[in-house]
Amino acid sequence: MTDSTTFPTDFLWGGATAANQIEGAYNEGGKGLSIQDVMPQGITTPRADGPTDDNLKQVAIDFYHRYAEDIALFAEMGFKTFRFSIAWSRIFPLGDETLPNEEGLAFYDRVIDECEKHGIEPLVTISHYETPLHLADTYDGWVNRDMIGFYERYARVLFARYGARVKYWLTFNEINSVLHAPLMSGGINTPKDQLSKTDLYQAIHNELVASALATKAARELAPSAQIGCMVLAMPAYPLSPDPDDVMASMTTERTNLAFGDIHVRGEYPGYYLRSLRDQGVELVITDEDRALLKENTVDFVSFSYYMSVAETADESKRVIGKGNIMGGVRNPTLKESEWGWQIDPVGLRIVLNQFWDRWQKPLFIVENGLGAKDQLVEIDGTKTVIDDYRIDYLNDHLVQVGEAITDGVDVMGYTSWGCIDLVSASTAQLSKRYGFIYVDRNDDGSGTLDRYKKKSFHWYAEVIRSNGASLTR
Ligand code: BG6
Repeated sequence: MTDSTTFPTDFLWGGATAANQIEGAYNEGGKGLSIQDVMPQGITTPRADGPTDDNLKQVAIDFYHRYAEDIALFAEMGFKTFRFSIAWSRIFPLGDETLPNEEGLAFYDRVIDECEKHGIEPLVTISHYETPLHLADTYDGWVNRDMIGFYERYARVLFARYGARVKYWLTFNEINSVLHAPLMSGGINTPKDQLSKTDLYQAIHNELVASALATKAARELAPSAQIGCMVLAMPAYPLSPDPDDVMASMTTERTNLAFGDIHVRGEYPGYYLRSLRDQGVELVITDEDRALLKENTVDFVSFSYYMSVAETADESKRVIGKGNIMGGVRNPTLKESEWGWQIDPVGLRIVLNQFWDRWQKPLFIVENGLGAKDQLVEIDGTKTVIDDYRIDYLNDHLVQVGEAITDGVDVMGYTSWGCIDLVSASTAQLSKRYGFIYVDRNDDGSGTLDRYKKKSFHWYAEVIRSNGASLTR
């Protein structure tokens, strides 16, 4: 048991999703196509030319039509917050128009109404792997500086419309993942193996400036809003105590930490500038860009955490494992999930302490969870899933969050990923399930879309009700 006072009384317990992975209705309500509509197999295959029937995201779990039922289930678990993203192509179907699509805006009004009805605080991601397809096809996504203006216009529309009702905003989901998944994360159409380093880092710069501009816009249009950056956290431990391995692990971690450094400190760190120089990258950075970054730093830092990796300077020992978008060197001391992601609850405490020591900004864990195959069973006439493996994973990670809070880290909240089963981002499968709520839909698209409460549903409800006191050590 944790000390019942460990978690602050206003701790934001909840769950997280993304529009393209839950909504479906890919061509309803005036929505334009997004890059996800041409990524039927996630990031495992090259993109398609246009939408294809084998894309599970066309229907996903039909949240677009079932949001009220789903949010009621979240409320039944006692959620204090619900993280969802707004599909950019519902608001600006092409992305470069000047006027937004009212039908798209009205949909999110209804989602927010439903959250308010249940006393759930919305936590909104402005851009979560769903760049309008037209922006990818016509501009090559974030490689093009024009994207900054399109994104700013979109963010301004959101703050003007929802700013009085939504307090917590994230500018870009896992902004550092563009290094590894340029199309999914950056809407960059140029295939990864043909993308120059200069274009890639210019895209990153453009996103960082856009993130700062969104923060600036929020200060004007939604003064009570708090803006966070969102990074994919993946600690990289030295594979051995050899100083070369320690340096290698530091270098790998910095490829991710740079994004937090820039969002929090408002300038490029020296090690990042050196890395650009070493790679022969020269960026177009204006004085205005520098001022924007400096003057519009974030209120909090949010991150996803699923796993850690190891790192070594010895090429012969670099045995690469699977993992969340980037993966890394396998750590021989850890077990792994059915998808090969290594499981490391203590790593979450390490990340929380590292980020707090480094940035002294409130931290929000906005993704964490276990993708696993579930078996729907019937017990006393009720369909359910006995997902003890998921309960164990979440329990062990939450115990470490409690430890970090006891260490003095300021943790705002925790939203478990895929609180309801959804379509996987990397593999586009539904059988990779994260939820407390089972959705009857299979990888071949069959299923009723009915919802069933898993064992973890009741477990999480008790964790929230007891404010963490029911966790087992
Ligand atoms: C994160 C993404 O990388 O991990 C989510 O922000 C994603 O969109 C989650 O779903 C889990 O990854 P996957 O590939 O199992 O869906």
